Amino acid sequence: MDYDPSRTASDEAKEKTREQNTPLAERGQRLYDRWAENQLLYDLIARASASPRKQACDQLDLSGGERVLEIGCGPGVNFEMLAEGISSNGAVVGIDYSTRMVQRAIARRREHGWENIEVVRGDASRASFEPETFDAALASLVLSVIPAAREVIQAVHDALSPGGRFVVFDARARYREGSMRLLNPLRTRFVRRTFNHQEHGVVDELRAVFERVAVVETFRAGSEYVAVAVKQPDSADNS
Ligand SMILES: C[S@@+](CC[C@H](N)C(=O)[O-])C[C@H]1O[C@@H](n2cnc3c(N)ncnc32)[C@H](O)[C@@H]1O
Repeated sequence: MDYDPSRTASDEAKEKTREQNTPLAERGQRLYDRWAENQLLYDLIARASASPRKQACDQLDLSGGERVLEIGCGPGVNFEMLAEGISSNGAVVGIDYSTRMVQRAIARRREHGWENIEVVRGDASRASFEPETFDAALASLVLSVIPAAREVIQAVHDALSPGGRFVVFDARARYREGSMRLLNPLRTRFVRRTFNHQEHGVVDELRAVFERVAVVETFRAGSEYVAVAVKQPDSADNS
């Protein structure tokens, strides 16, 4: 790599993390291309998480006219709720790195005539969004499968307007309550192989970047949760 005097040690560390993460990212991309082909099973699983999804969309607190960023939008299962929330004068941008997921999301958008929803193919951990261009952001079942989750969270933080909300619905590799915990060795292996689940704690990563983070509800013996991170109105860049 050429010498660039403006590069800091932190830039180099980030670059190194990206390089180390690349094989995992490619593995994840291939995995989610396959998931996109298995439409029936995907929709079944998506329906099983209808309640936390609705809670997550409600927590965005949309009243119409907002610009919303959806990280890892997959086949667009949240689009209907987002479209209702933003109404006709808002806009949604969904980003996903799986080509097949993006194709399915675009097909869904076309089928429903949601003209104010844009779907972009890209790796969210490498994306740079225009600063302070979104009022709210959503990530459902995504941050836990992204190796460089901290970078994505930082990018979302920077892309949000002051006071903007980042709502995260996600899954943990372990049950936290009751006898379901006995199944943890199986669950951990299952989510790692089936969804490319990573070991980092998403809520801790959110707390490292956002000023205010609260887990508002947990589901399925504590293995799923909805968290809300808010960018302070007077927030300075804390990267
Ligand atoms: C479990 S699916 C969830 C999809 C959707 N949000 C939902 O709730 O149904 C995870 C999605 O995140 C996408 N994804 C994973 N890592 C990503 C990354 N680094 N950048 C963009 N999309 C990513 C995958 O392609 C997949 O569509």
